[in-house]
Amino acid sequence: MLAMSYQGPKNVKAVKKPDPKIMHPNDVVLKVKRSAICGSDLHLYFGMVADTRVGTTFGHEFTGVVEEVGSSVESLKVGDRIMVPFNISCGRCYYCQRSLFGNCELTNPSATVAAGVYGYSHTTGGYDGGQAQYVRVPFADVGPMKIPDDMHDEDVLFLTDAFPTGYMAAEMGSIRPGDTVICFGAGPVGLFAAKSAFLMGAGRVIVVDRLNYRLEFAQGYTGCEIVNFEEVDDIIVTLKKMTEGRGADVCIDAVGLDASGSNFQSFTGKVMMMQAGAATAIDWAIDSVRKAGHVSIVGVYGPPWNMIPIGTAMNKGITMRMNQCHVKRYMPHLLQLIREGHVDPKAIITHRAGIEEVDDAYHIFANKKENCIKPILAPNGI
Ligand SMILES: NC(=O)c1ccc[n+]([C@@H]2O[C@H](COP(=O)([O-])OP(=O)(O)OC[C@H]3O[C@@H](n4cnc5c(N)ncnc54)[C@H](O)[C@@H]3O)[C@@H](O)[C@H]2O)c1
Ligand SMILES: [Zn+2]
Ligand SMILES: [Zn+2]
Repeated sequence: MLAMSYQGPKNVKAVKKPDPKIMHPNDVVLKVKRSAICGSDLHLYFGMVADTRVGTTFGHEFTGVVEEVGSSVESLKVGDRIMVPFNISCGRCYYCQRSLFGNCELTNPSATVAAGVYGYSHTTGGYDGGQAQYVRVPFADVGPMKIPDDMHDEDVLFLTDAFPTGYMAAEMGSIRPGDTVICFGAGPVGLFAAKSAFLMGAGRVIVVDRLNYRLEFAQGYTGCEIVNFEEVDDIIVTLKKMTEGRGADVCIDAVGLDASGSNFQSFTGKVMMMQAGAATAIDWAIDSVRKAGHVSIVGVYGPPWNMIPIGTAMNKGITMRMNQCHVKRYMPHLLQLIREGHVDPKAIITHRAGIEEVDDAYHIFANKKENCIKPILAPNGI
């Protein structure tokens, strides 16, 4: 088969790899129909995540058709169309029993901090990902959900990552009716966080980014207010002025470790690697939330630590919540929201490519060229 292969920082290409095989009775092999590139893949692409091995196939946001089933699989059969959460979860452990699927303790042999994830660094288990013509799906009775017959793969593709992550980001903000929410990042996750914040009753949502084309899209897609942090003197002063001098009720970090906007954070986090990425968006969230407000972090940072103003957070009495998204937990509800017409996730797709063009797709997304918001791959053709 053809599969995306990591060759080193800023260098990926399509290569021939052996087709995946059933390795455990509860595996299925999936013929991939659609596979997105996520902002999290860009952290790998830029060489920012430890133990990202050359030859790894990325991709943790995908749908497809079941090609082969292991002998113990009960819920799926050959030919089923499924969407697959990015977390690999066992369904039985302490965390899975509590629907904390992103915290599963049995699927990541490399580290205890996170569950297994498809196509991520070997710190999340070293599973090959779905930016390929075929992918092995372990614990097939646990994670995947069938795609309704009347829906296209692209209708539901982002239910496997970006949409539930944005939704959970808003949910962790404990938004109350009329609240003001600031969302840092106008990428796919930020868009779904802003959209979800309104669905949860926010009165105002302010989205912050540095890319005007993304901010304009965010405004049209969600009805939010927008601020370009590169076009104001001081982003915190600007946001405070927009929120009665007090700050927002809820701030969301949908940026993560590649953040720009602070020379100090970028130099120590991205150039010197003295901390696990630039924590600029966390800094800004803590500074621009009101006292006793909520900060919700879904932006990805590598362990073990970052320089964040915890003293400020303590003095302000901020509640901070964060996690990998527990994707499976949200899929049924968010599928319903799509069906009822509240959210049209596929509207954020700007680029479609074949697997042979995977290097171009990464280049365009990573450098935010051609007004790219979300690129997806169709590894077996459109
Ligand atoms: N927690 C989870 O389960 C989970 C799941 C999916 C993605 N993520 C993470 O969410 C984050 C966003 O993902 P995405 O796909 O939307 O990525 P993306 O790269 O498309 O978007 C990030 C956006 O942040 C903007 N940005 C950079 N610095 C900023 C700053 N200081 N303030 C405001 N905006 C800034 C960029 O211009 C870009 O538009 C990434 O860190 C990704 O790894 C987490
Ligand atoms: Zn992702
Ligand atoms: Zn588990």
